[in-house]
Amino acid sequence: MKDIVAIYPGSFDPVTNGHLDLIHRGAKLFDRLIVAIAPNLDKDQPLFELPERKEMLEAMTAGLDNVSVDIFEGLLVRYCIQKNANAVLRGIRAVSDYEFELQMALMNRKMEPRVETVFMMPAEKYSYLSSRIVREIARLGGPLTGLVPEMVEERVRQKVAQRQTTASGIHLQ
Ligand code: PNS
Repeated sequence: MKDIVAIYPGSFDPVTNGHLDLIHRGAKLFDRLIVAIAPNLDKDQPLFELPERKEMLEAMTAGLDNVSVDIFEGLLVRYCIQKNANAVLRGIRAVSDYEFELQMALMNRKMEPRVETVFMMPAEKYSYLSSRIVREIARLGGPLTGLVPEMVEERVRQKVAQRQTTASGIHLQ
């Protein structure tokens, strides 16, 4: 039997309980799982720098022997070949995710037929959860309990407070 190495790509800005649920499921299924952090492509300003996201993901996956965390830039399929990975893991929360995920999976397969995309569903209780929503709630001072691990919640709060202090400093000048 050949070893199946899977890449779980995402922006993880920040890592949520939904991501961690999927990482645990993926770690059971694959021989090795590489959580690969990519720069955010949307217009929303990133909350955390890539190394900060890596540090949090490493802390959250420290107990999983076959899981490692990395940062990548450029095409995902190129990164997969570089890492000798044969699969990409993506989470599907609701039907609304499917259209975009299907497009990405098919385009990745067209570019690199050696890499298959595998979809898994996180627990239903995380079906409404996303990093973008976590960032928005945090910026508006809402509760994050149950959405992200406690350590991440603390880091998010610090980051938002830091940003707000810097922004008010600029306004005062
Ligand atoms: O967490 P996200 O934002 O849903 O992750 C999106 C991600 C990082 C998986 C996607 O943007 C990606 O694959 N980026 C790498 C660049 C690339 O290969 N683009 C072509 C995709 S068909």
